[in-house]
Amino acid sequence: MESKNHHFLVISSTAQGHMNPSLQLAKRLIDIGSSHVTFATSVHGLAQIKSLPSLEGLSFASFSNGFDDGVKPDNDPDHIMSELKRAGSQSLTALIEKISKSDEHGPITFLIYTILLPWAAEVASSFGIASAFLCILSTTSFAICHHYFKDYYKNQSSLPFPSSITIDGLPPFASDELPSYLLPSSPHVSILPTLQEHYQILEQDLNSCVLLNTFDGLEEAAIRDMRSHMNLITVGPLIRSNDVEVCCDLFDKSGDDYLQWLDSQADSSVVYASFGSLAVLSSGQMEEILHGLVDSGLPVLWVIRKSGNEGGQETQNLINNTLKKEQGLIVPWCSQVEVLNHKSVGCFVTHCGWNSTIESLAAGVPVVGCPHFADQTTNAKLVEELWGTGVRARENEEGVIKREEIKRCLEVVMGDGERGEEMRRNAQKWKGLAMKAVKEGGSSDDNLRNFVRRLG
Ligand code: UDX
Repeated sequence: MESKNHHFLVISSTAQGHMNPSLQLAKRLIDIGSSHVTFATSVHGLAQIKSLPSLEGLSFASFSNGFDDGVKPDNDPDHIMSELKRAGSQSLTALIEKISKSDEHGPITFLIYTILLPWAAEVASSFGIASAFLCILSTTSFAICHHYFKDYYKNQSSLPFPSSITIDGLPPFASDELPSYLLPSSPHVSILPTLQEHYQILEQDLNSCVLLNTFDGLEEAAIRDMRSHMNLITVGPLIRSNDVEVCCDLFDKSGDDYLQWLDSQADSSVVYASFGSLAVLSSGQMEEILHGLVDSGLPVLWVIRKSGNEGGQETQNLINNTLKKEQGLIVPWCSQVEVLNHKSVGCFVTHCGWNSTIESLAAGVPVVGCPHFADQTTNAKLVEELWGTGVRARENEEGVIKREEIKRCLEVVMGDGERGEEMRRNAQKWKGLAMKAVKEGGSSDDNLRNFVRRLG
Protein backbone atom coordinates (compact mmCIF):
# COMPACT_ATOMS: atom_id res chain seq x y z
CA MET A 1 0.00 0.00 0.00
CA GLU A 2 1.24 3.52 -0.85
CA SER A 3 1.86 5.59 2.27
CA LYS A 4 -0.41 8.54 1.51
CA ASN A 5 -1.99 10.63 4.24
CA HIS A 6 -5.22 11.27 2.42
CA HIS A 7 -7.36 9.43 -0.03
CA PHE A 8 -9.82 11.86 -1.61
CA LEU A 9 -12.85 10.62 -3.51
CA VAL A 10 -13.92 13.31 -5.99
CA ILE A 11 -17.30 12.67 -7.60
CA SER A 12 -18.76 14.60 -10.50
CA SER A 13 -21.73 14.42 -12.86
CA THR A 14 -20.73 13.56 -16.40
CA ALA A 15 -20.67 17.06 -17.85
CA GLN A 16 -17.52 18.64 -19.25
CA GLY A 17 -18.01 21.79 -17.20
CA HIS A 18 -18.27 19.74 -14.00
CA MET A 19 -15.52 17.20 -14.67
CA ASN A 20 -12.85 19.69 -15.77
CA PRO A 21 -12.68 21.68 -12.51
CA SER A 22 -13.01 18.42 -10.51
CA LEU A 23 -9.98 16.96 -12.26
CA GLN A 24 -8.06 20.20 -11.97
CA LEU A 25 -8.72 20.14 -8.23
CA ALA A 26 -7.64 16.49 -8.11
CA LYS A 27 -4.36 17.47 -9.75
CA ARG A 28 -3.82 20.34 -7.28
CA LEU A 29 -4.38 17.95 -4.35
CA ILE A 30 -1.87 15.49 -5.79
CA ASP A 31 0.64 18.28 -6.51
CA ILE A 32 0.46 19.47 -2.89
CA GLY A 33 1.59 15.98 -1.91
CA SER A 34 0.61 13.10 0.34
CA SER A 35 -2.69 12.47 -1.40
CA HIS A 36 -4.20 9.88 -3.63
CA VAL A 37 -7.35 10.89 -5.52
CA THR A 38 -10.03 8.59 -6.89
CA PHE A 39 -12.15 10.42 -9.43
CA ALA A 40 -15.61 8.99 -10.07
CA THR A 41 -18.34 9.84 -12.54
CA SER A 42 -21.39 7.95 -13.83
CA VAL A 43 -20.96 4.45 -15.28
CA HIS A 44 -22.16 5.57 -18.70
CA GLY A 45 -20.15 8.80 -18.49
CA LEU A 46 -16.87 7.07 -17.68
CA ALA A 47 -17.28 4.96 -20.81
CA GLN A 48 -17.82 8.15 -22.89
CA ILE A 49 -14.50 9.73 -21.92
CA LYS A 50 -12.23 9.72 -24.96
CA SER A 51 -9.04 8.96 -23.07
CA LEU A 52 -8.36 8.86 -19.37
CA PRO A 53 -5.40 10.95 -18.24
CA SER A 54 -2.53 9.07 -16.76
CA LEU A 55 -1.26 10.83 -13.66
CA GLU A 56 0.51 9.29 -10.70
CA GLY A 57 -1.76 9.48 -7.67
CA LEU A 58 -4.99 9.54 -9.70
CA SER A 59 -7.32 6.62 -10.31
CA PHE A 60 -10.80 6.32 -11.80
CA ALA A 61 -14.05 4.72 -10.68
CA SER A 62 -17.76 5.07 -11.42
CA PHE A 63 -21.10 5.29 -9.66
CA SER A 64 -24.57 4.58 -10.98
CA ASN A 65 -26.90 7.44 -11.85
CA GLY A 66 -29.72 4.93 -12.45
CA PHE A 67 -29.18 4.90 -16.22
CA ASP A 68 -26.01 2.89 -16.72
CA ASP A 69 -26.69 2.28 -20.41
CA GLY A 70 -27.18 6.02 -20.95
CA VAL A 71 -30.85 5.59 -21.95
CA LYS A 72 -33.32 7.77 -20.02
CA PRO A 73 -36.62 6.30 -21.19
CA ASP A 74 -39.05 9.07 -20.27
CA ASN A 75 -36.62 11.99 -20.07
CA ASP A 76 -38.69 13.24 -17.13
CA PRO A 77 -36.38 15.57 -15.15
CA ASP A 78 -38.02 14.72 -11.79
CA HIS A 79 -37.51 11.01 -12.42
CA ILE A 80 -33.90 11.58 -13.52
CA MET A 81 -33.11 13.55 -10.35
CA SER A 82 -34.76 11.01 -8.04
CA GLU A 83 -33.02 8.07 -9.76
CA LEU A 84 -29.71 9.90 -9.50
CA LYS A 85 -30.20 10.21 -5.75
CA ARG A 86 -31.48 6.65 -5.22
CA ALA A 87 -29.01 4.77 -7.41
CA GLY A 88 -26.20 7.22 -6.69
CA SER A 89 -26.47 6.83 -2.90
CA GLN A 90 -26.51 3.04 -3.15
CA SER A 91 -23.61 2.72 -5.54
CA LEU A 92 -21.51 5.37 -3.79
CA THR A 93 -21.96 3.39 -0.56
CA ALA A 94 -20.81 0.25 -2.37
CA LEU A 95 -17.86 2.09 -3.92
CA ILE A 96 -16.62 3.46 -0.59
CA GLU A 97 -16.92 -0.04 0.95
CA LYS A 98 -15.07 -1.60 -1.97
CA ILE A 99 -12.23 0.93 -1.78
CA SER A 100 -11.89 0.49 1.98
CA LYS A 101 -11.53 -3.30 1.53
CA SER A 102 -8.93 -2.93 -1.19
CA ASP A 103 -5.34 -2.57 -0.17
CA GLU A 104 -4.27 -0.33 -3.00
CA HIS A 105 -4.54 3.28 -1.85
CA GLY A 106 -6.07 2.99 1.60
CA PRO A 107 -9.65 3.85 2.63
CA ILE A 108 -11.35 7.08 1.55
CA THR A 109 -10.58 9.81 4.06
CA PHE A 110 -12.45 12.72 2.45
CA LEU A 111 -15.18 13.16 -0.16
CA ILE A 112 -15.55 16.07 -2.60
CA TYR A 113 -18.75 16.30 -4.64
CA THR A 114 -19.99 18.70 -7.29
CA ILE A 115 -23.34 20.28 -8.06
CA LEU A 116 -26.49 18.09 -8.25
CA LEU A 117 -24.95 15.42 -6.00
CA PRO A 118 -25.74 16.71 -2.46
CA TRP A 119 -26.79 13.21 -1.30
CA ALA A 120 -23.11 12.26 -1.48
CA ALA A 121 -22.48 14.28 1.71
CA GLU A 122 -24.98 12.09 3.56
CA VAL A 123 -23.37 8.89 2.26
CA ALA A 124 -19.93 10.14 3.34
CA SER A 125 -21.21 11.05 6.77
CA SER A 126 -22.71 7.55 7.23
CA PHE A 127 -19.09 6.31 7.04
CA GLY A 128 -17.85 9.06 9.35
CA ILE A 129 -16.11 10.71 6.37
CA ALA A 130 -16.14 14.50 6.11
CA SER A 131 -16.99 16.16 2.80
CA ALA A 132 -16.74 19.38 0.80
CA PHE A 133 -18.82 20.78 -2.03
CA LEU A 134 -16.82 21.86 -5.08
CA CYS A 135 -18.77 24.76 -6.58
CA ILE A 136 -18.27 24.81 -10.36
CA LEU A 137 -20.17 28.11 -10.67
CA SER A 138 -18.97 31.62 -9.93
CA THR A 139 -19.36 32.64 -6.28
CA THR A 140 -21.67 35.39 -7.50
CA SER A 141 -24.08 32.88 -9.09
CA PHE A 142 -23.79 30.75 -5.96
CA ALA A 143 -24.67 33.77 -3.80
CA ILE A 144 -27.57 34.84 -6.04
CA CYS A 145 -29.12 31.35 -5.77
CA HIS A 146 -28.69 31.53 -1.99
CA HIS A 147 -30.58 34.84 -1.85
CA TYR A 148 -33.26 33.38 -4.04
CA PHE A 149 -33.80 30.33 -1.79
CA LYS A 150 -33.65 32.40 1.37
CA ASP A 151 -35.96 35.20 0.30
CA TYR A 152 -38.30 33.86 -2.39
CA TYR A 153 -38.36 30.09 -2.59
CA LYS A 154 -39.44 28.42 0.59
CA ASN A 155 -40.41 24.79 0.95
CA GLN A 156 -40.45 24.41 -2.80
CA SER A 157 -43.18 26.98 -3.39
CA SER A 158 -42.00 30.29 -4.70
CA LEU A 159 -43.18 33.76 -3.76
CA PRO A 160 -43.64 36.25 -6.65
CA PHE A 161 -40.48 36.21 -8.72
CA PRO A 162 -38.19 39.15 -7.87
CA SER A 163 -37.54 41.79 -10.54
CA SER A 164 -33.90 41.77 -9.45
CA ILE A 165 -31.62 40.29 -6.78
CA THR A 166 -29.08 42.40 -4.94
CA ILE A 167 -25.82 41.45 -3.28
CA ASP A 168 -24.20 44.16 -1.17
CA GLY A 169 -21.38 45.77 -3.13
CA LEU A 170 -22.63 44.70 -6.58
CA PRO A 171 -25.06 46.30 -9.03
CA PRO A 172 -28.52 44.61 -8.92
CA PHE A 173 -28.95 41.52 -11.10
CA ALA A 174 -32.04 41.94 -13.30
CA SER A 175 -34.06 38.89 -14.33
CA ASP A 176 -32.09 38.48 -17.58
CA GLU A 177 -28.87 38.50 -15.53
CA LEU A 178 -29.92 35.78 -13.07
CA PRO A 179 -29.07 32.08 -13.42
CA SER A 180 -31.82 30.93 -15.79
CA TYR A 181 -32.82 27.84 -13.77
CA LEU A 182 -34.27 30.19 -11.16
CA LEU A 183 -36.69 31.73 -13.67
CA PRO A 184 -40.30 30.47 -13.51
CA SER A 185 -40.18 29.79 -17.27
CA SER A 186 -37.09 27.56 -16.97
CA PRO A 187 -37.29 23.96 -18.21
CA HIS A 188 -34.80 23.13 -15.44
CA VAL A 189 -36.96 24.03 -12.41
CA SER A 190 -36.80 20.41 -11.26
CA ILE A 191 -33.19 20.91 -10.19
CA LEU A 192 -34.23 23.58 -7.66
CA PRO A 193 -34.97 21.23 -4.72
CA THR A 194 -31.60 19.52 -5.28
CA LEU A 195 -29.87 22.86 -5.52
CA GLN A 196 -31.55 24.00 -2.33
CA GLU A 197 -30.37 20.83 -0.58
CA HIS A 198 -26.75 21.93 -1.17
CA TYR A 199 -27.32 25.12 0.80
CA GLN A 200 -29.15 23.33 3.59
CA ILE A 201 -26.27 20.87 4.09
CA LEU A 202 -23.63 23.59 3.94
CA GLU A 203 -25.45 25.84 6.40
CA GLN A 204 -26.42 23.13 8.86
CA ASP A 205 -23.25 21.04 8.97
CA LEU A 206 -20.55 23.22 10.50
CA ASN A 207 -17.85 20.73 9.47
CA SER A 208 -18.68 20.96 5.79
CA CYS A 209 -17.21 23.54 3.44
CA VAL A 210 -17.37 24.86 -0.11
CA LEU A 211 -14.34 24.89 -2.38
CA LEU A 212 -14.69 27.68 -4.94
CA ASN A 213 -13.04 27.99 -8.33
CA THR A 214 -12.38 31.67 -7.86
CA PHE A 215 -9.95 33.88 -5.92
CA ASP A 216 -10.53 36.42 -3.19
CA GLY A 217 -9.95 39.60 -5.21
CA LEU A 218 -12.07 38.47 -8.15
CA GLU A 219 -15.47 38.19 -6.48
CA GLU A 220 -14.95 40.07 -3.22
CA ALA A 221 -18.57 41.13 -2.65
CA ALA A 222 -20.12 37.69 -3.27
CA ILE A 223 -17.44 35.96 -1.19
CA ARG A 224 -18.05 38.38 1.70
CA ASP A 225 -21.79 37.84 1.39
CA MET A 226 -21.56 34.03 1.49
CA ARG A 227 -18.85 33.85 4.19
CA SER A 228 -21.44 34.93 6.76
CA HIS A 229 -23.48 31.81 5.94
CA MET A 230 -20.99 29.01 5.40
CA ASN A 231 -17.37 27.95 5.36
CA LEU A 232 -15.96 29.13 2.01
CA ILE A 233 -12.51 28.23 0.71
CA THR A 234 -11.35 29.97 -2.47
CA VAL A 235 -8.91 27.79 -4.40
CA GLY A 236 -9.05 29.09 -7.98
CA PRO A 237 -8.42 29.49 -10.74
CA LEU A 238 -8.00 25.70 -10.65
CA ILE A 239 -6.78 25.61 -14.22
CA ARG A 240 -3.11 26.07 -15.11
CA SER A 241 -1.92 26.49 -18.70
CA ASN A 242 0.05 23.23 -18.36
CA ASP A 243 -2.97 21.21 -17.15
CA VAL A 244 -3.93 20.02 -20.62
CA GLU A 245 -2.91 16.47 -19.78
CA VAL A 246 -5.48 16.11 -16.98
CA CYS A 247 -8.49 16.67 -19.24
CA CYS A 248 -11.22 14.06 -19.66
CA ASP A 249 -12.72 15.08 -22.99
CA LEU A 250 -16.21 13.85 -23.83
CA PHE A 251 -15.76 14.98 -27.45
CA ASP A 252 -13.34 13.91 -30.19
CA LYS A 253 -10.69 16.40 -31.26
CA SER A 254 -9.69 16.50 -34.89
CA GLY A 255 -5.92 16.44 -34.30
CA ASP A 256 -3.56 19.26 -33.51
CA ASP A 257 -3.72 21.08 -36.87
CA TYR A 258 -5.43 24.04 -35.29
CA LEU A 259 -2.35 24.67 -33.11
CA GLN A 260 -0.16 24.84 -36.22
CA TRP A 261 -2.73 27.13 -37.83
CA LEU A 262 -2.61 29.36 -34.73
CA ASP A 263 1.21 29.37 -34.95
CA SER A 264 0.88 30.86 -38.45
CA GLN A 265 -1.26 33.81 -37.31
CA ALA A 266 -0.12 37.21 -36.03
CA ASP A 267 0.02 37.83 -32.28
CA SER A 268 -3.35 38.63 -30.63
CA SER A 269 -5.12 38.58 -34.00
CA VAL A 270 -7.37 35.50 -33.80
CA VAL A 271 -10.97 35.34 -32.58
CA TYR A 272 -11.60 32.03 -30.81
CA ALA A 273 -15.32 31.12 -30.74
CA SER A 274 -16.78 28.30 -28.66
CA PHE A 275 -20.00 27.78 -26.74
CA GLY A 276 -19.05 25.06 -24.29
CA SER A 277 -20.27 21.50 -24.11
CA LEU A 278 -24.03 21.87 -23.59
CA ALA A 279 -25.43 24.91 -25.41
CA VAL A 280 -27.46 24.03 -28.50
CA LEU A 281 -27.72 27.08 -30.75
CA SER A 282 -30.50 27.44 -33.31
CA SER A 283 -29.64 27.37 -37.02
CA GLY A 284 -30.61 31.04 -37.20
CA GLN A 285 -28.23 31.93 -34.37
CA MET A 286 -25.41 29.91 -35.95
CA GLU A 287 -25.90 31.82 -39.21
CA GLU A 288 -25.78 35.16 -37.44
CA ILE A 289 -22.58 34.15 -35.64
CA LEU A 290 -21.10 32.98 -38.95
CA HIS A 291 -21.79 36.29 -40.69
CA GLY A 292 -20.70 38.34 -37.68
CA LEU A 293 -17.38 36.51 -37.61
CA VAL A 294 -16.86 36.64 -41.39
CA ASP A 295 -17.84 40.32 -41.60
CA SER A 296 -15.33 41.20 -38.88
CA GLY A 297 -12.59 40.21 -41.34
CA LEU A 298 -10.58 38.76 -38.45
CA PRO A 299 -9.01 35.27 -38.45
CA VAL A 300 -11.31 32.83 -36.67
CA LEU A 301 -10.97 29.50 -34.87
CA TRP A 302 -14.48 28.18 -34.24
CA VAL A 303 -15.49 25.07 -32.28
CA ILE A 304 -18.65 23.49 -33.68
CA ARG A 305 -19.38 20.27 -31.82
CA LYS A 306 -20.31 17.26 -33.97
CA SER A 307 -23.36 16.60 -31.85
CA GLY A 308 -25.29 19.47 -30.45
CA ASN A 309 -24.67 22.94 -31.78
CA GLU A 310 -24.03 22.34 -35.47
CA GLY A 311 -27.45 23.64 -36.47
CA GLY A 312 -28.19 20.92 -39.06
CA GLN A 313 -26.62 19.94 -42.39
CA GLU A 314 -27.85 23.00 -44.27
CA THR A 315 -26.27 25.34 -41.75
CA GLN A 316 -23.09 23.24 -41.80
CA ASN A 317 -22.88 23.58 -45.58
CA LEU A 318 -23.49 27.30 -45.37
CA ILE A 319 -20.77 27.67 -42.73
CA ASN A 320 -18.26 25.60 -44.69
CA ASN A 321 -18.97 27.54 -47.88
CA THR A 322 -18.91 30.97 -46.26
CA LEU A 323 -16.01 30.84 -43.82
CA LYS A 324 -13.16 30.56 -46.31
CA LYS A 325 -10.05 28.62 -45.42
CA GLU A 326 -7.94 31.78 -45.59
CA GLN A 327 -9.98 33.38 -42.83
CA GLY A 328 -10.76 30.57 -40.49
CA LEU A 329 -10.77 27.07 -39.20
CA ILE A 330 -13.65 25.04 -37.80
CA VAL A 331 -12.88 22.21 -35.39
CA PRO A 332 -15.24 19.81 -33.57
CA TRP A 333 -13.42 20.23 -30.25
CA CYS A 334 -10.06 21.56 -29.14
CA SER A 335 -7.80 21.89 -26.18
CA GLN A 336 -9.37 25.16 -25.06
CA VAL A 337 -6.83 26.03 -22.39
CA GLU A 338 -3.99 25.63 -24.89
CA VAL A 339 -5.86 27.77 -27.41
CA LEU A 340 -6.62 30.54 -24.91
CA ASN A 341 -2.97 30.63 -23.88
CA HIS A 342 -1.73 30.76 -27.48
CA LYS A 343 -0.12 34.09 -28.30
CA SER A 344 -2.13 34.57 -31.50
CA VAL A 345 -5.53 34.53 -29.73
CA GLY A 346 -6.84 38.05 -29.11
CA CYS A 347 -10.50 37.53 -28.23
CA PHE A 348 -12.88 34.80 -27.07
CA VAL A 349 -16.47 34.74 -28.31
CA THR A 350 -18.00 32.62 -25.56
CA HIS A 351 -21.27 31.50 -23.97
CA CYS A 352 -19.69 32.51 -20.60
CA GLY A 353 -19.87 29.12 -18.86
CA TRP A 354 -17.94 29.59 -15.62
CA ASN A 355 -15.00 27.43 -16.75
CA SER A 356 -14.65 29.30 -20.03
CA THR A 357 -14.96 32.59 -18.15
CA ILE A 358 -12.26 31.87 -15.58
CA GLU A 359 -10.01 30.13 -18.13
CA SER A 360 -10.08 33.25 -20.35
CA LEU A 361 -9.49 35.48 -17.34
CA ALA A 362 -6.48 33.38 -16.27
CA ALA A 363 -5.15 33.57 -19.85
CA GLY A 364 -5.67 37.36 -20.08
CA VAL A 365 -7.96 37.08 -23.12
CA PRO A 366 -10.78 39.65 -23.52
CA VAL A 367 -14.26 38.34 -24.20
CA VAL A 368 -17.39 38.87 -26.28
CA GLY A 369 -20.09 37.24 -24.13
CA CYS A 370 -23.00 35.48 -25.88
CA PRO A 371 -24.70 33.87 -22.88
CA HIS A 372 -27.20 31.13 -23.55
CA PHE A 373 -28.64 29.69 -20.34
CA ALA A 374 -27.84 28.62 -16.74
CA ASP A 375 -25.38 30.94 -14.97
CA GLN A 376 -24.01 32.39 -18.22
CA THR A 377 -25.85 35.72 -18.20
CA THR A 378 -24.60 36.36 -14.65
CA ASN A 379 -21.01 35.65 -15.71
CA ALA A 380 -21.39 37.91 -18.76
CA LYS A 381 -22.40 40.76 -16.45
CA LEU A 382 -19.31 40.19 -14.29
CA VAL A 383 -17.09 40.29 -17.39
CA GLU A 384 -18.62 43.52 -18.63
CA GLU A 385 -19.39 45.47 -15.47
CA LEU A 386 -17.17 44.13 -12.69
CA TRP A 387 -13.87 43.28 -14.34
CA GLY A 388 -14.13 45.29 -17.57
CA THR A 389 -12.57 42.47 -19.58
CA GLY A 390 -15.20 42.29 -22.32
CA VAL A 391 -18.69 43.09 -23.56
CA ARG A 392 -21.97 41.22 -23.56
CA ALA A 393 -23.51 40.94 -27.04
CA ARG A 394 -27.20 41.85 -26.80
CA GLU A 395 -30.06 39.79 -28.22
CA ASN A 396 -32.88 41.33 -30.26
CA GLU A 397 -36.56 40.93 -29.28
CA GLU A 398 -36.61 37.45 -30.81
CA GLY A 399 -33.75 36.39 -28.56
CA VAL A 400 -31.17 36.28 -31.38
CA ILE A 401 -27.79 38.01 -31.34
CA LYS A 402 -27.61 39.52 -34.81
CA ARG A 403 -24.52 39.59 -37.03
CA GLU A 404 -24.19 43.39 -36.75
CA GLU A 405 -24.08 43.08 -32.96
CA ILE A 406 -21.35 40.42 -33.08
CA LYS A 407 -19.32 42.50 -35.53
CA ARG A 408 -19.82 45.62 -33.37
CA CYS A 409 -18.66 43.80 -30.23
CA LEU A 410 -15.60 42.41 -32.03
CA GLU A 411 -14.71 45.92 -33.21
CA VAL A 412 -14.93 47.19 -29.64
CA VAL A 413 -12.84 44.38 -28.14
CA MET A 414 -10.28 43.95 -30.95
CA GLY A 415 -10.20 47.55 -32.19
CA ASP A 416 -7.80 50.41 -31.45
CA GLY A 417 -10.36 52.46 -29.53
CA GLU A 418 -9.92 53.46 -25.90
CA ARG A 419 -12.48 50.86 -24.70
CA GLY A 420 -10.69 47.98 -26.39
CA GLU A 421 -7.34 49.16 -25.03
CA GLU A 422 -8.83 49.32 -21.55
CA MET A 423 -10.29 45.80 -21.82
CA ARG A 424 -6.92 44.42 -22.88
CA ARG A 425 -5.24 46.23 -19.97
CA ASN A 426 -7.86 44.87 -17.57
CA ALA A 427 -7.48 41.35 -18.97
CA GLN A 428 -3.72 41.49 -18.35
CA LYS A 429 -4.26 42.89 -14.87
CA TRP A 430 -6.65 40.05 -13.92
CA LYS A 431 -4.34 37.46 -15.44
CA GLY A 432 -1.55 38.76 -13.19
CA LEU A 433 -3.78 38.66 -10.11
CA ALA A 434 -5.00 35.15 -10.98
CA MET A 435 -1.43 33.91 -11.34
CA LYS A 436 -0.48 35.54 -8.05
CA ALA A 437 -3.40 33.84 -6.25
CA VAL A 438 -2.33 30.34 -7.30
CA LYS A 439 1.42 30.54 -7.04
CA GLU A 440 3.16 29.45 -3.85
CA GLY A 441 2.20 31.87 -1.09
CA GLY A 442 -0.80 33.22 -3.03
CA SER A 443 -4.24 33.29 -1.39
CA SER A 444 -5.76 30.32 -3.27
CA ASP A 445 -2.61 28.23 -2.93
CA ASP A 446 -2.44 28.95 0.82
CA ASN A 447 -6.14 28.17 1.21
CA LEU A 448 -5.85 24.78 -0.44
CA ARG A 449 -2.72 23.83 1.53
CA ASN A 450 -4.35 24.92 4.81
CA PHE A 451 -7.48 22.97 3.93
CA VAL A 452 -5.44 19.79 3.45
CA ARG A 453 -3.31 20.51 6.54
CA ARG A 454 -6.42 20.89 8.71
CA LEU A 455 -7.63 17.45 7.64
CA GLY A 456 -4.73 16.11 9.70
C1 UDX B 1 -21.78 23.95 -17.84
C2 UDX B 1 -22.78 25.13 -17.91
O1 UDX B 1 -23.34 25.22 -19.20
C3 UDX B 1 -22.09 26.42 -17.51
O2 UDX B 1 -22.98 27.50 -17.61
C4 UDX B 1 -21.60 26.29 -16.08
O3 UDX B 1 -20.97 27.48 -15.68
C5 UDX B 1 -20.65 25.10 -15.99
O4 UDX B 1 -21.28 23.90 -16.48
P1 UDX B 1 -20.33 24.23 -20.21
O5 UDX B 1 -21.49 24.80 -20.91
O6 UDX B 1 -19.75 23.04 -20.79
O7 UDX B 1 -20.61 24.04 -18.64
O8 UDX B 1 -19.25 25.44 -20.23
P2 UDX B 1 -17.94 25.73 -19.43
O9 UDX B 1 -18.19 25.95 -17.99
O10 UDX B 1 -17.29 26.85 -20.12
O11 UDX B 1 -17.06 24.41 -19.56
C6 UDX B 1 -16.62 23.92 -20.80
C7 UDX B 1 -15.30 23.25 -20.61
O12 UDX B 1 -14.99 22.55 -21.80
C8 UDX B 1 -14.16 24.24 -20.35
O13 UDX B 1 -13.34 23.75 -19.32
C9 UDX B 1 -13.40 24.26 -21.67
O14 UDX B 1 -12.01 24.46 -21.53
C10 UDX B 1 -13.69 22.90 -22.24
N1 UDX B 1 -13.65 22.92 -23.72
C11 UDX B 1 -14.60 23.57 -24.43
C12 UDX B 1 -12.63 22.25 -24.34
O15 UDX B 1 -11.74 21.69 -23.70
N2 UDX B 1 -12.61 22.25 -25.71
C13 UDX B 1 -13.54 22.87 -26.45
O16 UDX B 1 -13.44 22.79 -27.69
C14 UDX B 1 -14.58 23.56 -25.80
